Amino acid sequence: MTAEEAIAFIKPGTTIGASGFTGSGYPKAVPLALAAKIKEEADSGRTFRVNLWTGASTGPELDGALAEVNGIEFRMPYQSDTHMRDRINRGEAHYFDYHLSHSTPLVKSGAMGPLHTAVIEVTAIKSDGRLVPSSSAGNNQAWLDAAEQVILEVNSWQNADLEGMHDFYTIAPPPNTQPIPIMKADDRIGSPYMTVDPSKVVAVVETHIPDRNAPFSDPGEVEMKIAANLLDFLSHEVKMGRMPENLFPLQSGVGNIANAVLCGLMDSPFENMTSYTEVIQDGMINLLKAGKLRMASATAFSLSPDMAKYINDHMHEFQDKMILRPQDVSNNPEVIRRLGCIAMNSLIETDIYGNVNSTHVMGSRVMNGIGGSGDFARSASISVFMTPSTAKGGAISAIVPQACHVDHGSQDVRVIVTEQGLADLRGLSPKQRAETIIRNCAHPDYRPALLDYYKRARDVSVGQHTPVILDEALSWHSRFVKAGSMRA
Ligand code: COA
Repeated sequence: MTAEEAIAFIKPGTTIGASGFTGSGYPKAVPLALAAKIKEEADSGRTFRVNLWTGASTGPELDGALAEVNGIEFRMPYQSDTHMRDRINRGEAHYFDYHLSHSTPLVKSGAMGPLHTAVIEVTAIKSDGRLVPSSSAGNNQAWLDAAEQVILEVNSWQNADLEGMHDFYTIAPPPNTQPIPIMKADDRIGSPYMTVDPSKVVAVVETHIPDRNAPFSDPGEVEMKIAANLLDFLSHEVKMGRMPENLFPLQSGVGNIANAVLCGLMDSPFENMTSYTEVIQDGMINLLKAGKLRMASATAFSLSPDMAKYINDHMHEFQDKMILRPQDVSNNPEVIRRLGCIAMNSLIETDIYGNVNSTHVMGSRVMNGIGGSGDFARSASISVFMTPSTAKGGAISAIVPQACHVDHGSQDVRVIVTEQGLADLRGLSPKQRAETIIRNCAHPDYRPALLDYYKRARDVSVGQHTPVILDEALSWHSRFVKAGSMRA
């Protein structure tokens, strides 16, 4: 049926579980039709809002379109859409950015309430009813299982060669959870297909619409320096015998810096690498093409428009080099710990003790969400956080006396990298961490002020373990809010 007919099944106040992860494999026609309906209702003075659960961020046809008409009441677990972000930060939509590996079991436990409608993009429906997934795995199978009714979008833009690339494996809830039998990043443990109870399928809608993602900016000097600092560190770890020559499986976060690091790996001495990660970015495709990366395990693509087109045209060349898994498997702490992944994520700010804020600007305005960074940071063998040492043209220092919001406590942060240098925090106490982070990572414009704060904190603190001046700890942030700069 048409998308306009299909949305008759979606009622105001209900919850939608949509496919989609970092701009890949999200439904397009149904949410666009729903957004039009919501606007029509609003124009007639009626309120039509839904709760939206996804895998992670989606594209303009889903998050963007529904947020534009103020149609989302509650959103989880991760978003990065401008309109959605504005609604959330204006207090017009509720949002909670659960760790991505937690979203599946949380819904399965029933604690999040009922899932009324799953809206799932697929590449094809087999004659026996099995579903060929599209460009993300995410929470798709979990939503298909949990939903009361299902709408399928069959998107012929997605390449038929996606068939066979996925690996769906269901983790039983406690107390029946079993070990996940992934011993190396390449292991396949499930089925390439998703399944659905056909009696729940109320609509099938055909589409031909591309996935839409923002392009990456070309790595600049700062990003290249960050990448170089990190690659030096990895070479050192190999030299010290703490890591094999092909490294441990790589996890690479979202954003431009993560992509720059992957670009840097192209010219590195490392060969035959693998990745056990959340998203496959442009840089990872280039590494696969060059043969530097042997295989990539993830839950979704996160590609620039040019690379998405390239992959769609050349999917068959990558069929045996990529595995797309459900996000409670791709991001599962058990597997990440077993494989010893190297977690490489970006941050918004870190304090001098290495408490990391990945999500909130000036303490209250959410940027995107925690995504899978926590899943990987806590369980990785080495968890690295990267950032330019300043933001907003130098008006903000990414190294601050105290983080104004904390996503990753200092125990989950082993290495911090900026274009200024790298702080290896392993084996250091809070005071040693502060001295190392300020010396190695802070921008020279802010380094003296950070040192001054730290030294005075040592004099006036009530305890000497983690010195802090309570009245001053967040003064850099309030100075920026009042005066537009953290500079004194
Ligand atoms: N204060 C205020 N704004 C800051 C800031 C700070 N300390 N640090 C960065 N920003 C702003 C930048 O100015 C930029 O704003 P703009 O879009 O208006 O230009 C924006 O944040 C993005 O920063 P950028 O330097 O371009 O980095 P990025 O694209 O690599 O994104 C994060 C950085 C932290 C926002 C992004 O990595 C993220 O959302 N991380 C959380 C989720 C995650 O780690 N997922 C990976 C799991 S697999």
